[in-house]
Amino acid sequence: MISAIVLLAFIVVEGRRLEIPFLWLPILATLGVGVSCGLPLFLLMRQARLERAADGERAAGDGKAPRRVVGLYDAAYANFASNLYQKIREEAFGEDLGQNSWLTAGELQKFAGWLRLGPGLRLLDVACGSGGPSLRLAKLTGCDVVGIDIHEQATANANALARREGLAGRATFDRLDASQSLPWPPASFDAVMCIDAVNHLPDRRSVLAEWARFLKPGGRLLFKDPIGVTIPLSHSEIGVRGSGGFYLFVPPGEDERLLRAAGFALEGVEDVTDNMTEIARRRGAARAAREAELRAIEGDPNFDGQQEFFRVSELIARERRLSRFAFLARKPLEG
Ligand SMILES: C[S@@+](CC[C@H](N)C(=O)[O-])C[C@H]1O[C@@H](n2cnc3c(N)ncnc32)[C@H](O)[C@@H]1O
Repeated sequence: MISAIVLLAFIVVEGRRLEIPFLWLPILATLGVGVSCGLPLFLLMRQARLERAADGERAAGDGKAPRRVVGLYDAAYANFASNLYQKIREEAFGEDLGQNSWLTAGELQKFAGWLRLGPGLRLLDVACGSGGPSLRLAKLTGCDVVGIDIHEQATANANALARREGLAGRATFDRLDASQSLPWPPASFDAVMCIDAVNHLPDRRSVLAEWARFLKPGGRLLFKDPIGVTIPLSHSEIGVRGSGGFYLFVPPGEDERLLRAAGFALEGVEDVTDNMTEIARRRGAARAAREAELRAIEGDPNFDGQQEFFRVSELIARERRLSRFAFLARKPLEG
């Protein structure tokens, strides 16, 4: 303010000395005051903007691992049926079920028993990916399957796989967002499963309430939460582990608490972190062995991002800092 008054006085005095026409003085004065007030304001705002941007960068990564979104699913689903990606799945999982998760064939066999599926019973597979796991359950148990996933190519693969395996009459797959309310009436399914995907759905309380709604009384729910935070993690580790899109990291006990709040009876919890550790290591290694081909398909940033994802996933699972749990719950019988 003081500098503006001094500037104003200077313009008037100098203007008269230089015999500038009287009418010009207010214009020059306004310009001078505008610049003297506006310039510092502009510089202050610019500085604040730069600081905010730097804060954002710092929040996104600690310099070692910049936060970025890695296309974990696009390449896997676009190339699902190719020899290259099949070979990688075979090497990573031991048995290629057509999964895109941490699921092993042994786990699926065990979960089939937990879900008590059988001919004529209806299973909903939430975030089914390319449908391999639920189609295997349809084959093993004779159940019918409805699968949903947000990824268009994933459900197209699943329907193609169902046709190839002669299961199209008993299995259908649709593109739907599982974080929204879903189109089925109450008590539509005998079982619901969600493999390594509940972490992608933002509001777990309402997701569980929705699953409870369309399960029949006595129906069973099985889901695996692969990102339970069991001891401290750095923000860069969380950044890399969550680089595939939206991820919800929850503390120990939260899934159990939310299951009870949604009216489920908890039947069992199993720590299946070891499988995630091993599969992360093997997926990273199987991909590294085919680096040149994958780089050509996925591009360098995406290939590198995925390799970093598998490296960090293995490390923090091995050290038991991020854990994977399977939850089995039952919707109580009415009355
Ligand atoms: C780790 S993959 C697991 C896929 C499959 N369950 C399996 O075991 O192969 C996670 C899946 O969640 C799906 N997904 C993410 N957000 C979703 C949403 N809002 N609704 C439905 N599916 C979603 C992804 O497209 C992806 O197929």
